[in-house]
Amino acid sequence: MADWNPALYTRFEDERTRPAAELLARVPLAAPLLACDLGCGPGNSTALIAARYPGAEVIGLDASPAMLASARARLPGLAFALADAATWIPERAPDLIYANAVLQWLPDHARLLPRLFGLLAPGGVLAVQMPDNLAEPTHRLMRDVAADGPWAAAIGDPAVAGRLGRMLEPAAYYDLLAPHAAEVDVWRTAYHHRMADAAAIVDWVSATGLRPFLDPLDAGERAGFLSAYTAEIEAAYPPRSDGRRLLAFPRVFIVARAR
Ligand SMILES: C[S@@+](CC[C@H](N)C(=O)[O-])C[C@H]1O[C@@H](n2cnc3c(N)ncnc32)[C@H](O)[C@@H]1O
Repeated sequence: MADWNPALYTRFEDERTRPAAELLARVPLAAPLLACDLGCGPGNSTALIAARYPGAEVIGLDASPAMLASARARLPGLAFALADAATWIPERAPDLIYANAVLQWLPDHARLLPRLFGLLAPGGVLAVQMPDNLAEPTHRLMRDVAADGPWAAAIGDPAVAGRLGRMLEPAAYYDLLAPHAAEVDVWRTAYHHRMADAAAIVDWVSATGLRPFLDPLDAGERAGFLSAYTAEIEAAYPPRSDGRRLLAFPRVFIVARAR
């Protein structure tokens, strides 16, 4: 897949950073020594961690060179490094592993989350937030449009491009971590983001969930796909009483503290 586009991602930075702040607010740590922001993206979540814990060593980790370059430009005083969350092993045990809006891109959560939890220092915290929106119109319509058009062969199986089946039920995350943890807090929240129009909703997902659908397409296919998809989004998210569209966006939060 092509690299991430930090400029497009940060277009909706306030909305994307709100769950990051709400996750961090629930982290029960007073003064961690080492905090790792896994999937730090352009550094928006890393900045929150550094502001809450000015005495901590804060390291941002990401698999995208473009995102890391953006994060380094934003926070020149912090350390950032290339890492794949699937295989990352820290040099020493972190007190906080924080992963906002990243683990939904990785498979095998039944192994991944206990693995990350097992990397913590005693008393450390794993804090995770993941969009849980694969059944929302934004994502269902990506798969529907992908299956029916001249772009279908290039995209392949829409269920694969759409990462179907990766997310577990909230209670399943609790069951995975609770036997090994001092405390596990799991919750699910649906945000309703105010969007200017249907095109803004398409721009929002173009930076994230739509990437696996668009990346394999040539310019002509991409224009055709986006036109068909935007028409579906237009109908699925009608104007509200003030003319804006409301983008319903469920997210799952997990905060687990080690013994
Ligand atoms: C949606 S952004 C989240 C950025 C930021 N944490 C935030 O709160 O807005 C997802 C980030 O996860 C990164 N990512 C995706 N797969 C990854 C992996 N396997 N290992 C590390 N980072 C990954 C992407 O490069 C991207 O920067």
